[in-house]
Amino acid sequence: MHFKYICSDCGHEIVTDSVVYQCPVCAGKNPGNTFPQGNLIVEYDPDELRLAAAKPDVSFFDFFPYTVPTPEVYPVGSTPIIRPKRIAERYGFANLMCKMDSALPSGSFKDRASQLVAAQAIAHHENRIALASTGNAGAAMSCAGAAYGLDIILFVPETAPVNKLMQSVLYGATVVPVHGTYDDAFALSIEYTRHFGGINRNTAYNPMTIEGKKSVSIELFTQLGRKVPDVVYVPVGDGCIIAGVYKGFHDLLRAGAISKVPHLVCCQSDRSDAISRAFNAGNFSNLEHADTRADSISVESPANGRMAVRCIRESDGWTSIVSDSQIFAAQLELAHDSGIFVEPAAACAYAGFLADRDHLAAKLGHDASVCLLLTGIGFKDMAAFNGEVSIPPAIPNSVQAMIDRFSTK
Ligand SMILES: Cc1ncc(COP(=O)(O)O)c(C=O)c1O
Repeated sequence: MHFKYICSDCGHEIVTDSVVYQCPVCAGKNPGNTFPQGNLIVEYDPDELRLAAAKPDVSFFDFFPYTVPTPEVYPVGSTPIIRPKRIAERYGFANLMCKMDSALPSGSFKDRASQLVAAQAIAHHENRIALASTGNAGAAMSCAGAAYGLDIILFVPETAPVNKLMQSVLYGATVVPVHGTYDDAFALSIEYTRHFGGINRNTAYNPMTIEGKKSVSIELFTQLGRKVPDVVYVPVGDGCIIAGVYKGFHDLLRAGAISKVPHLVCCQSDRSDAISRAFNAGNFSNLEHADTRADSISVESPANGRMAVRCIRESDGWTSIVSDSQIFAAQLELAHDSGIFVEPAAACAYAGFLADRDHLAAKLGHDASVCLLLTGIGFKDMAAFNGEVSIPPAIPNSVQAMIDRFSTK
C-alpha cells in the first residue's frame, strides 16, 4: 500500500520511500522533563484501505506498508481468543474474551512490531537491526532475527531482568549491556545505526513499531466475523501498544469497515501511571519515578505518551489504575480459574478490568463485549512468584504417607 508519514504532534507530512524515524521539526524540541514529541504515524489513502477491507478473506497483511516475506518462518498473528467461562460467570460479563498474544513466537505482543520491522529491513536490503530494550521487544526482535537471518544488536541497561535477556542471547542476538539506564542504552542504539547503518527498531522511534502492533485489531475484526469488541483493556507503559491497537481500529474506521473505534482502557500500575496521569490531568510534564514490579510496564517518561493520550481520548476511552498487589492477585486468579498464565504486565489488563467492572457495567451494561489484551506469557518471569507461591514439601514414597496427605484430621 502507498503511505506517507504524519507527525502526531505538529501534523508535518513526509512522503518518502526511505526509512524515516521522527519528525525533524518536533523531535528536536524534547527538553527531557516532559513526554517526548515527534513520533510519526503511517497514513494511507482511504480508497486503498477500503479495497483492503473489502476482501472477503481480509488479513492484516493487506493493511501493512511493507510485504511480510514468508510469514510462515516467523508466524506472527492468529493468536487464539479464549472465553474464560468461570471468571466471566463470576463477574457477570458473558461476552468476556482474552486475546492471547502471549501465544506469539517469542511469548509477547512485541512480535507484532518485530514482524513489520523485519519486513522493513528486508525491503531496504538491510541485514542489521539495532534497538534498546529491557525485555520483550529485545526478545521479539532477536526471535525474528533468528527466523529471517538478520543480525540483531541489542543494547540493554546492565540491570535488565536476566530471564528476558537470556531469551535474546539464546536467539543469537549480540547483546550489549550498558553501564547506565534504559535511556542511555536507547541513545547508544541510535548512535549505533548512525555509525554502522542498519535499521533502528526502538519502540515508538521507528513508526513501524506502532504500525506492526495494529495487526491485533484487524485480526480481532476478522476473528469476530467483521465485528470489533465494545471495549479493549490494554496494559500500558510507553503507550506504543495502545497506540497500535487504536491505529488498527482507526484504519478499519477509515476503510468504512466499522462505524466506531472500541473504547480503549489504559491499564497501569499506580507505581507507573504517567500516561493515566497525563490523560486525567491534561499535563505532559508530570514525571514521577516508576517502580512497579510488573517490569514491562515500568516507565517514567513514556516514549509514546502524547500519542497514547490522544488515542485513549479519541476512542472515548478511560484509565484504570491498580496497585501491584491487585496485579499479582489478578495474575494468580487468571491462572488458577481460567488456565491462562501471563506475565504481570499482561495481568494488569485483567486487574484493570476487575477494578473497573462496576463503572463498565454502568456505562455499557453486562452484555458488552469485553476484550482483555494479554500481552506476555507468564513463564517469562517465574521469579515474580518468589515468596508468593511455593511448592509443597515432598511426602515419603509410601502409600500410607499418601493416604495421610489426603486424610482430613
Ligand atoms: C508484556 C507487555 N505488556 C505491555 C507492555 C506495554 O506496552 P507499551 O510500553 O507499548 O505501553 C509491554 C511493553 O514492553 C509488554 O512487554
